[in-house]
Formats: sequence, C-alpha cells, structure tokens
Amino acid sequence: SSKEDQTVLDANNWLMKLYHHLLRNTKEGKEGYAYLIERGFTDEIIDRFQLGYAPNSKDFVVRFLEKKGFHPQAMVKAGLLSVNDHGEYSDRFRGRVIFPIRNHLGKTVAFGGRAIFDQEPKYLNSPETELFQKGKLLYNFDLARSAIRKKGSVILFEGYVDVIAANQAGVENGIGTLGTSITEQQAKLIRRYVDQAIVCYDGDRPGIEASLKAAKLLMKTGCQVKMARLPDGMDPDDYIKAYGAERFQNEVIGASDTYVAFIMRHLRKEFNLNLEGDRITYVEKVLKEVATVDRAIEREHYLQELANEFELSMDTLKDEVAKLSKRQG
Ligand code: GTP
Ligand code: MN
Ligand code: MN
Ligand code: MN
Ligand code: MN
Repeated sequence: SSKEDQTVLDANNWLMKLYHHLLRNTKEGKEGYAYLIERGFTDEIIDRFQLGYAPNSKDFVVRFLEKKGFHPQAMVKAGLLSVNDHGEYSDRFRGRVIFPIRNHLGKTVAFGGRAIFDQEPKYLNSPETELFQKGKLLYNFDLARSAIRKKGSVILFEGYVDVIAANQAGVENGIGTLGTSITEQQAKLIRRYVDQAIVCYDGDRPGIEASLKAAKLLMKTGCQVKMARLPDGMDPDDYIKAYGAERFQNEVIGASDTYVAFIMRHLRKEFNLNLEGDRITYVEKVLKEVATVDRAIEREHYLQELANEFELSMDTLKDEVAKLSKRQG
C-alpha cells in the first residue's frame, strides 16, 4: 500500500542522511571519505550526490532504524537490513561507500555500496523491491532531466561512478543503467525525452557487448544513436582521471562514432584482415549491420568504404545488403 511505500521512502531518506553524515563528519566515515577523495571526487560532488559511508558494524543501522521507530521486519523487506535463520537482524551494507539511488522524482529508493576493503562483491546493491526495479530506473534522471531537455540528447553510462565522474567533468545530461544492460522499458523511457542518445559504456569486452545491445534497443525505439569512443579497456571514469574533462568532452563524447563505424572498429580487432577467410567473414559481418541502417546515404557510405578497402564492386555489395535486408524484414 502507499502508506507502506511512504514508510520505506522515509527509512531510505533517513539512511541516506545518516550515511552521508557519517562520511562527511565523523571518524567512522573517514576511510570512506578518503577513498572518494583518493579517486578524485570533490566535496561539492560528494554533497551533490549525497555519497555516504556504511560503517563496518554488525548492527549500527539496525539500532539507528529501531530508534527511528521502524520495524526491522519491514526494513528487511525494504532491503535495508539483513536477517539470518535465527531471526537476528544485521546491517546489510558494511564498510562500503554508499551511492544513494534516486528515482525520477528524486526520492532515494535504494543504495549501491562499493567495497573499499576488497570485500566481495565489489558492488552490493539493494535488492529489488516494489519501489526499486533496476530495469525501470535510470540513475540520475532526476538531476539530469533539464540538461537532457535542453541538449536534446542523453549520455548513457554503465553505472553511478561513471555518471558522477562525468558530471564532475561538466557532463550534465548523463544517466546510468545499473549494471551493463539496458531494458526495453528504459530505452522507451529515454525515447520519450530525446531524439539522440550517446552510449558511453566501458571500453572492455562486456562494456562493448552491452553497448551494442543498448544501441540496438535504442534504435528500435527510434532514437538516433552514437557510440562514444573510449580507448581499449578504459571506462569513462578512468579516462577522465587520466586525460581530464576537456579531452573527455571533445575526444570521447564529441567524437562519438555511428553504430556501424563503432562495430567496424571493434570487429577489426577480432580478425586478421591479412587472411582471406577473415576478410570475407569481416565484410559479411559488417554488411549484416549495414543492412539494418535506415538511411540510404549512410548505407552507401559504408559500402563505399568496404569497396575501397577490399577491392569489391559496389554492385556486389549492394546485392548482398539487399538480400540481407529482405531476410531481416
Ligand atoms: P569502479 O570499479 O568503482 O570504478 O566502478 P565501475 O563503475 O567501473 O564498475 P564496473 O564497470 O565494474 O560496473 C559498472 C556497474 O555495474 C556498477 O555501477 C554496478 O551497478 C554494476 N556492478 C559491477 N559489479 C557489480 C557487482 O559485483 N554486483 C552488482 N550487483 N553490480 C555490479
Ligand atoms: Mn564495466
Ligand atoms: Mn567500469
Ligand atoms: Mn571497474
Ligand atoms: Mn570504473
């Protein structure tokens, strides 16, 4: 019911404030604060995103929530506490830097906790609840909304750390999926606000694979999609820390590729284009993607590129694409 929802929102809000206070003002939070400063985050950013620290204690939060009058049972259901077989309650997040996860209205509905002492897993998120469904939520949408409207575009990141690092670097229209895959629902939500999306996932294999999936879903909703250009193995946060905000804006976001150019760039690395067989497979794979491109001029552009590089006739390439388009409907 909505009264229960309000209770859960209240508890999340109290906890967000507690975690943030601990990080900012107390001895208990010193290690968390040092971790964020070490990673290059400023006080201003820590405050803007209300980053916090969950102390390395079994029952600090149990006692806090109890004192505020929340029933531990309800707090377990809300994903804020854990309980064992003996019915003993304990803190869910321990010794972790806390990223509050806000919904589109700016209400905290969950937390992400990052290990700072090499605990596993590296990230522990709140479990899904009535109010927190990962596949529906876009991280930072509340704060980014006006910039998204103004720019007519959104930049999509893998997670909160990259959204926050990009925000510190002046990118205000950045939002995040939590983990590496976007859902159809999220893609549709994005499409309601913008014509253009730039996918800026990590430059590692899972990131690249997820980028392709995200791009496809976004294009299916009618979004124009561009792919940010990150060096191999780097994620947006790594890049900003290594090369600075300006280069990130100009050479990663500003120099985004089209979807097909992105695929070509990555496929090239998987094949040895000196080998006849690899060349053919490469061309076939690229043609399959070209066949999905709507604009004739853009298709022609890629075919010309292939024709030149592999000494193939435009007629042959066009025939192939036509066949593939028909097959794909
Ligand atoms: P740092 O390593 O702190 O720089 O974070 P990152 O954002 O680079 O993390 P990574 O690229 O590994 O993952 C991106 C996003 O995936 C995170 O923000 C999380 O939401 C999610 N994620 C990564 N690892 C885990 C995990 O072990 N468990 C869960 N639940 N989510 C994860
Ligand atoms: Mn990643
Ligand atoms: Mn990453
Ligand atoms: Mn990482
Ligand atoms: Mn990272």
